[in-house]
Amino acid sequence: MTLAVYPGTFDPMTLGHLDIVTRACSLFDHVIVGVAHNPDKAGRHLFDTDTRAALAREAVHGIGGVEVDIVSGLLVDYCRVRGATVLIKGLRSVTDLDAEAPMAQLNRQLGGPETVFLIASPAYSHTSSSLVKDIARHGGAVADLVPPGVDAALHRALGARGT
Ligand code: PNS
Repeated sequence: MTLAVYPGTFDPMTLGHLDIVTRACSLFDHVIVGVAHNPDKAGRHLFDTDTRAALAREAVHGIGGVEVDIVSGLLVDYCRVRGATVLIKGLRSVTDLDAEAPMAQLNRQLGGPETVFLIASPAYSHTSSSLVKDIARHGGAVADLVPPGVDAALHRALGARGT
């Protein structure tokens, strides 16, 4: 039984993230979407950790073999406690790879799991939580970029235009 963790900030979860979750579930027995709780960055997030996790939970509802959990502290410690041997990361570009490669190397050096990279589907290669929030902040529609629950939450939080 291979347990994989797909970690991230998920502020908020996008359809790109959801695509990676779905594909990871076809590769591994069980996938944990690990919503990172970082108190130092709390003020910079639109949604607090519990809300980000709740939105992710709603988004993955119905996908078999997946759960959403909040990850505090070092990812490798969390993986050790949960018995996870794989980390999943999505890559949209070489810029993502530049940021992710050191983390993958250091997580291994810390005795942690292997990182498996999944290349973003072309439909989502330009989708990011930051851009989604920027569009929503300026009143643009983001329903094509995020799960319905996230669209509603952005609408409530920022007044994003619905479809
Ligand atoms: O969605 P993000 O912001 O790119 O996710 C970054 C995340 C949460 C995966 C990264 O910050 C992380 O792994 N945080 C947990 C703390 C940790 O283990 N840091 C050492 C990484 S080598």
